Amino acid sequence: MTNISPTFGVCYYPEHWPRDMWEEDAVRMVECGIQYVRIAEFAWSRIEIKRDQFDWEWLDNAISVLGAAGLKVVMCTPTATPPKWLVDEMPDMVAVDENGKPRKWGSRRHYDFSHIGYRKESARITEIFAKRYGENPHVVAWQTDNEYGCHATIVSYSNAAKEGFRDWLAQKYQSPDALNRAWGNVFWSMEVQDFSEVELPNLTVTEPNPSHILDFRRYTSDQVVEFNRIQTQILRKLAPGRDLIHNFMGHFLEFDHYDVAQDLDVAGWDSYPLGNLERHFDDANWKAWYLRAGDPDMQAFHHDLYRGCTPEKRMWVMEQQPGPVNWAPWNPDPHPGMVRLWSHEAFAHGAEVVSYFRWRQAPFAQEQFHAALNRPDGSPDRGYEEAEQVSNELAALPNTKTEKAKVALLFDYASIWATEIQRQGADYDGFILVREFYAALRKLGQNIDVISTRSDLTGYELIVVPHLLMVDQALVDKLEKSGARVVLGPRSGSRTRSHQIPDALAPGLLQQLIPMRVLRVESIRPGIVIPVEGIGSFSKWAEQVEPGDGTDVLLTGGEGYPAWVRNKSCSYIAGWPDQNLLSQIMKETLQNCGLTIVETGEDLRIRDRGQIRTIVNYGPKPQDASGLIDRNDEILIGTTMINVGGVIILHRAVR
Ligand code: GAL
Repeated sequence: MTNISPTFGVCYYPEHWPRDMWEEDAVRMVECGIQYVRIAEFAWSRIEIKRDQFDWEWLDNAISVLGAAGLKVVMCTPTATPPKWLVDEMPDMVAVDENGKPRKWGSRRHYDFSHIGYRKESARITEIFAKRYGENPHVVAWQTDNEYGCHATIVSYSNAAKEGFRDWLAQKYQSPDALNRAWGNVFWSMEVQDFSEVELPNLTVTEPNPSHILDFRRYTSDQVVEFNRIQTQILRKLAPGRDLIHNFMGHFLEFDHYDVAQDLDVAGWDSYPLGNLERHFDDANWKAWYLRAGDPDMQAFHHDLYRGCTPEKRMWVMEQQPGPVNWAPWNPDPHPGMVRLWSHEAFAHGAEVVSYFRWRQAPFAQEQFHAALNRPDGSPDRGYEEAEQVSNELAALPNTKTEKAKVALLFDYASIWATEIQRQGADYDGFILVREFYAALRKLGQNIDVISTRSDLTGYELIVVPHLLMVDQALVDKLEKSGARVVLGPRSGSRTRSHQIPDALAPGLLQQLIPMRVLRVESIRPGIVIPVEGIGSFSKWAEQVEPGDGTDVLLTGGEGYPAWVRNKSCSYIAGWPDQNLLSQIMKETLQNCGLTIVETGEDLRIRDRGQIRTIVNYGPKPQDASGLIDRNDEILIGTTMINVGGVIILHRAVR
């Protein structure tokens, strides 16, 4: 696990500014405490003006200026913005939307991951960049492309995707019969006699076969993996010893990030707490309360997710929100102190680098309303001051290690796709369920590792599995052998890998851990709840389960059906629990695991690294944090009364 010696970065676009500004910019970056500068991810049109006609002079120069100031450069492959001449050469390289419409050139990410011609171009320009800068002493890391999937660009219904999907299916199933069986194509006469008869699952009269869509989602995810791998293979050869990074997004589920991360050294991610709150949360009161802070758990969730993704388990925040953004429906100003808070929190969760987006606000083009560390006239904005403050504060703190947590939350992309494909209740969103489980654990003061089905499960006391529809035997064995307590959420194990109901009914293979059967399920409209033993209730979803041998009923729901059942160390929640119920279940389980519970309340959160505890206040009111601080702890930063946007860092007397 990583030894944190916190470092700062910034995203910089030398091509946006006159050359005579670069030197001063570089000097001021260093003054602000910045060490890394990410450049060139959108610079293709300035480098290759026409095919094979290159202008390197400005980029060579920019690297030298930055390097001379002592900055380390993160170079990017520029493939997120293929230039106009290239799209004109290959007009069919753009992605196609669900309605069959091509998505035109004129902004960014106008390419199709399946397009073989564009893949070759992506390899060509990567190689050209890598030959030029791969061993440049100032270039210490590479970012591949930029935010795979931003603007909903993963799933494409192009001809290239259709051809690719047919080949992928032929390799996977070997015979049309096997495919027909796996998908259940006999239903509605959907059988095919040849792989060339398979169509893409769009524009059908009513819903396409869920197994078909699920395989298509897996196929599209694999294309991102391959696209990225083509670049990393070139960079590994030509940029030896450099860290390879991609900047993933928050709340983004369209491809399997664990798979892509296998080819990277560092999982970077772009943290926009206020944009994400506005865009991805529904509850108006919640959004009003956290308007200027962001959801208290979502940054932490993504830190914990991406920290565990790469083989080396390394994570950076590649783009940190510095002030109001431009892309959510509404774009509020963060509380004073929030940029500092988000940065401290990222380091507390194991970020090696926090890099701000961007150095100077652009007075032109699409992002004119997006704040930066500096205003368009170059004067430092609030984000600059807060970044500088964090860097001074962290320089004075001891380095600490991120240790393996005792609690893990298992998160699986394909299961998210499965409920998107067949929700059964209009508001059944697997990611929201995951968010709620994660938040419940955090409010009980837990450090959490977000893990995948491929993770090593040894050493955990508790493994929480909120939303895992599809399991295989190896995972069930691994869970059993881990010795951890396991809590399963509703719909666990309810589908096979091909998206069919398991022969033995849900939870399918998980019956090895907990003998039971799910006999019937129902979805419930908003406003209606099913009480659970005076503790809380189920909403959205409830199941009628039949406990098997040795499985006890711990809680019962409204109609007398078991709501929470347990066999030895594995328990199952048979519905969508509200906050109280979930909190009670988690509390009891944590106690059974012998883990210490620290109740943080709604607005405060803690994160421990060894003996260093970071406490943050996401609420819009000052808070008394004395309940989270022991008399003998030494406060290194902050005061017990924690301000809005405030941070406390303390050295704990005992762990
Ligand atoms: C990110 C993107 C950046 C910039 C930023 C604005 O999604 O990577 O290029 O657009 O959002 O918040």
